[in-house]
Amino acid sequence: MREELERIKQQALEAMQAAQDIAALDAVRVRVLGKKGELTAVLKQMGKLSAEERPVMGQLANTVRAELEAELETRKTELEANALEARLAAEAVDVTIPGKEISMGHQHPMNKVLQEVKEIFIGMGYTIVDGPEVEEAAYNFTRLNIEEGHPSRDRSDTFYFDDDDSVLLRTQTSPIQIRVMENQQPPIRILAPGRVFRKDEADATHSPMFHQIEGLVVDEGITMGDLKGALETLIKRLYGEDAVVRFRPHHFPFTEPSCEVDMQCFKCHGTGEVAGQVCSTCHGEGWIELLGAGMVHPKVLEGCGIDSKKYSGFAFGIGLERMAMGRLRFNDLRLIFDNDIRFLSQF
Ligand code: PHE
Repeated sequence: MREELERIKQQALEAMQAAQDIAALDAVRVRVLGKKGELTAVLKQMGKLSAEERPVMGQLANTVRAELEAELETRKTELEANALEARLAAEAVDVTIPGKEISMGHQHPMNKVLQEVKEIFIGMGYTIVDGPEVEEAAYNFTRLNIEEGHPSRDRSDTFYFDDDDSVLLRTQTSPIQIRVMENQQPPIRILAPGRVFRKDEADATHSPMFHQIEGLVVDEGITMGDLKGALETLIKRLYGEDAVVRFRPHHFPFTEPSCEVDMQCFKCHGTGEVAGQVCSTCHGEGWIELLGAGMVHPKVLEGCGIDSKKYSGFAFGIGLERMAMGRLRFNDLRLIFDNDIRFLSQF
């Protein structure tokens, strides 16, 4: 029996050394020290021994068990350390490898300019408001003093939804003026950006969908001087102190007097030609039309329940694309809508 115990011990120690992972080591433990293990089997034979031999062998068996258990622990710690080392080696990160470049998108250039314009007017105390793109003809035309039969109502210019021409895609942001004034008494100071729609063929300066920014101020004692001040502030902030602008008399049914505001062409600097050719940005005009404006017509005020003897106001409608073209110095409106990343990423 002594030899038997010695043999079990030697084989077990060898098997523990040979085990390459915790699972293999555990298998050795079960095989030798488990309930049905080799050592247990030997102990069951103890009954056959003589009374003198029994305690001696019992003692020896216990020593063997203790030795094997100690070795199991040692080997287990060793294997665990190896496993950790292997894992760390496998997971090692090479911090010197160049990173993958992640390209960040950014706001559309037109939205950037819109944001600038909004901030300038918010700084002057304006509130940003919104209005519907599908609009009633009453708001888009009638209540803006645009009479029946006016050319801008023509079916060749306006997208109507039905045969009686009562519902349409708004052709301007000016109906928002009415929506604000019928709901609010002065003082009013609002800015309303949005999409507008006209049956225009697309060319370098026209598109069937474009953006306007409507402005409206109504209060006691508002004059054309306030209008000029607000718009000059906008243009100088946007284009720089040396920007050249002109106010040109014009006609709108809903403002009186009315004007249009142009900026000097940034491409030809007002000469109308570039290298002997007609300037393609301003078509030889030397000026780029930016917006329409004027003093709110008393009829429009009264139609919204605002006392035109007590209050006066000004309004303006900016062409956002035109303004962005001047601000960002590109000369074809279609670039804004093409969404060509080579163009967009320049801003
Ligand atoms: N709505 C006009 C247009 O689309 C612009 C405008 C707005 C003019 C406000 C005067 C006052 O041309």
